[in-house]
Amino acid sequence: MSNLKIFSENIKINSKRVIVRLDLNVPISKSSIEDSTRIEIIEPFIKKLIEKKAKIILISHLGRPKGKVVKELSLNPIFDYLQKSLNTKVYFYKDNIDQKAIDASNNLKQGEVLLIENIRFFKEEEDDNENFAKNLSKLGDFYINEAFSCSHRRQASLHKITNYIDSYGGPLLDKETQSINLIIKNKKKPVTSIIGGSKVSTKINVLLNLSKNTNNLIIVGAMANNFLKFNGLNVGASLLEKGTEDIIKSIYSSAEKNNCNIIIPVDCVVSNDLNGLPKPKSLNEIKSEDIILDIGEKTIELINKTVELSKTVFWNGPAGYFENKNFSKGTLSIAKKISSDTDTKSLISIVGGGDTIAALKNVEFRKVFTHLSTAGGAFLESIEGKELPGIKVLKK
Ligand code: 3PG
Repeated sequence: MSNLKIFSENIKINSKRVIVRLDLNVPISKSSIEDSTRIEIIEPFIKKLIEKKAKIILISHLGRPKGKVVKELSLNPIFDYLQKSLNTKVYFYKDNIDQKAIDASNNLKQGEVLLIENIRFFKEEEDDNENFAKNLSKLGDFYINEAFSCSHRRQASLHKITNYIDSYGGPLLDKETQSINLIIKNKKKPVTSIIGGSKVSTKINVLLNLSKNTNNLIIVGAMANNFLKFNGLNVGASLLEKGTEDIIKSIYSSAEKNNCNIIIPVDCVVSNDLNGLPKPKSLNEIKSEDIILDIGEKTIELINKTVELSKTVFWNGPAGYFENKNFSKGTLSIAKKISSDTDTKSLISIVGGGDTIAALKNVEFRKVFTHLSTAGGAFLESIEGKELPGIKVLKK
């Protein structure tokens, strides 16, 4: 049971104005949407609200315009998309949040949608401005936060707005918060976390909290280079981050205190440049010009065995430079193993992070995960153990 006020089917929304805060922050280039995943996953909920004859007011940000109107960050391409995909009349409101906006929301007919232009065009949004939040709340009778991935931001349309209107979390927000509980609170042990990506420093608090909460912590990706070096191994010309020794020392010491087993690569795939050909190597064969770009076969085997013995797996961050197919084997092997054990052995798997999702696009195998999160920063901050401002205000 969730301790949040979650929107339920019993709430009568027929003819009511429902404000939905979404994360429509999708990559856009030359006015065209490059990846619509974030829109696709919220569409069923919006369609349900349309079906229930609510009057729907959609709020989202796009990029970081810092309180100014930036033409390239207009929600126009998203408006075009929604007009095509939602089987109803969709309006686009581009003016101030004042009486005119309230009138536009009141003028909606049952099942119609009003999309508000990029809310971060208003400085008051990022300032979490009380008056602005109050005015926003007047656009609706109910407010639903369906943007878990933005809820780490203390901003008016996520935070202060809830002071003025009956507020709920949406179904996707509910799923995201519950999936974090599957790793940190209501977990089925043993729990294994696989953390990749390039920087240790951006994930230090994630690694520290995971070392307290999981049984195995597997480090892959370029960040593993720092762990290899810390353990006295030569990493050649591989990507390294300066000044990480103390961070790594603290992660090892926390892991020891909490009986968490830290696993780092035991072999690798190298090349002389990012576009080069792959050369498998053991860790004691690395030459000064070698760049580690993927984990090796023995490491894949070790990860597979560890996943095999786990009841819960959390995975965030690729295992190598997956952008070049020659170095994507490690990442794809992890994906395949987690997916197949979720499908056939009831493994609980939580997978997330922008790069991880990008690496999983267009793979040929069936992807089966308990939860695939599209949230970046918000997800990691939750894993760090922080309470997100936009979630805290939805507590019962
Ligand atoms: C994201 O892309 O993670 C969310 O939309 C939040 O965006 P932000 O980091 O600009 O607040």
